[in-house]
Amino acid sequence: MTSSTNQSLSTPSLSSQAIAQVNPLPRLLMGPGPINADPRVLRAMSAQLLGQFDPQFRGFMKQAMVMYREVFETRNEWTLIVDGTARSAIEAVMASLIEPGERVLVASYGRFGQLKTEIARRCGADVRVVETEWGTVFTPEQIEAALREHSPKLLAVCSGDTSTTMLQPLAEVGKLCHRYGALLQVDATASLAGAALPVDAWEIDAVTAGLQKCLAGPSGAAPITLNDAAAKIIYRRRHIEQGLQTADYVAGAGRIIGSNYFDLAMVMDYWSDKALNHHTEATTMLYGAHECARIFIEEGRESVYRRHRIAGASMLAGLEGMGLRVFGDKTNKMPNVTGAWIPEGVSGERVRSAMLNDFNIEIGTSFGPLHGRIWRFGNMGYNARQDAVLLTLAALETVLSAEGHRFTRGAGVDAAWQVWREAQNQS
Ligand SMILES: Cc1ncc(COP(=O)(O)O)c(C=O)c1O
Repeated sequence: MTSSTNQSLSTPSLSSQAIAQVNPLPRLLMGPGPINADPRVLRAMSAQLLGQFDPQFRGFMKQAMVMYREVFETRNEWTLIVDGTARSAIEAVMASLIEPGERVLVASYGRFGQLKTEIARRCGADVRVVETEWGTVFTPEQIEAALREHSPKLLAVCSGDTSTTMLQPLAEVGKLCHRYGALLQVDATASLAGAALPVDAWEIDAVTAGLQKCLAGPSGAAPITLNDAAAKIIYRRRHIEQGLQTADYVAGAGRIIGSNYFDLAMVMDYWSDKALNHHTEATTMLYGAHECARIFIEEGRESVYRRHRIAGASMLAGLEGMGLRVFGDKTNKMPNVTGAWIPEGVSGERVRSAMLNDFNIEIGTSFGPLHGRIWRFGNMGYNARQDAVLLTLAALETVLSAEGHRFTRGAGVDAAWQVWREAQNQS
């Protein structure tokens, strides 16, 4: 079949192949995300649909707002969920805060800094980028110098950039931004619930995330929190859709937001007690997001962070134990993802295929300059568990050995197991 757009697209035809029921092999997802969802989240998502203005459903929305304030450690009233994957919330914040021509500074240290640069450009911003080598993070001095040089309205940065496994220290960055008259937008997709992100204490104006990493859910719902400064800018740009305007409607004084779907002023009206219609709710995703937050709170913040720390330390010890070299600055590594250089003479893709096809375990490679040069191993959310980490390492030892990589068999798994034993002794 030739496509009119000259793209290649291969799909089975109904006549040539019976369409099978969706019944995939149960993979263990140990890459940089998505991960296996917690079964409780999947169960919550199988609950019957409700109308979005049903009082029961409005109750779940309100509970989600309360619970995500806890997850984000914030008192921000505007803590809600955007229907879409994590980038939808990043785009919603930029489209709603930034007017064309306004300056956005992106502090980029990996592929997801590049994504924010791209989104800001598409929003028509005057984008400036400051970069640091992949595998490193910024010092507060570097951030301050960039703020001084570019005077942006908004600084956008990842909390953790999954592509490089680095975790940017952010405790000082909010204060710095405010000293230079900028707002701070943080993309916490990869790190929320894996490492502390006290939004109010760190003075972050807007934070966005996804469910598919440390929150133990599927992708498709994006939690977001906005402080009063951000909410005020957005609400000044409030223009309600024509079909929903009432006789007493007065449009906001600010410029209309260039996207309808990502118009956070309308989304805020929808989540507020006004319950103004906007999109048709992805009810099932809201159930999932609700359960992710409930599980986080039930286990307790410190316990969740500790579990990610131990799993990450165990993964790292295991990889090093089998003679692999860990990628990047280990002191600023995310606890939930570890990169390892692919050894000379070993085929990275053959290893990934054997892990997947023979052991049902998915691991990742990376992007850009790191594609095919490192593997990335995740231990996050539901998979930040002893058995998941040890099984992954055990399978990797077998596959690496078959590839001719020389190391002491068993040393990786033993070192990794030891980390959990020591942690148990300390608790
Ligand atoms: C740090 C970071 N930001 C943004 C994204 C984009 O998220 P999504 O694919 O859910 O839109 C990802 C996805 O892996 C990510 O790791």
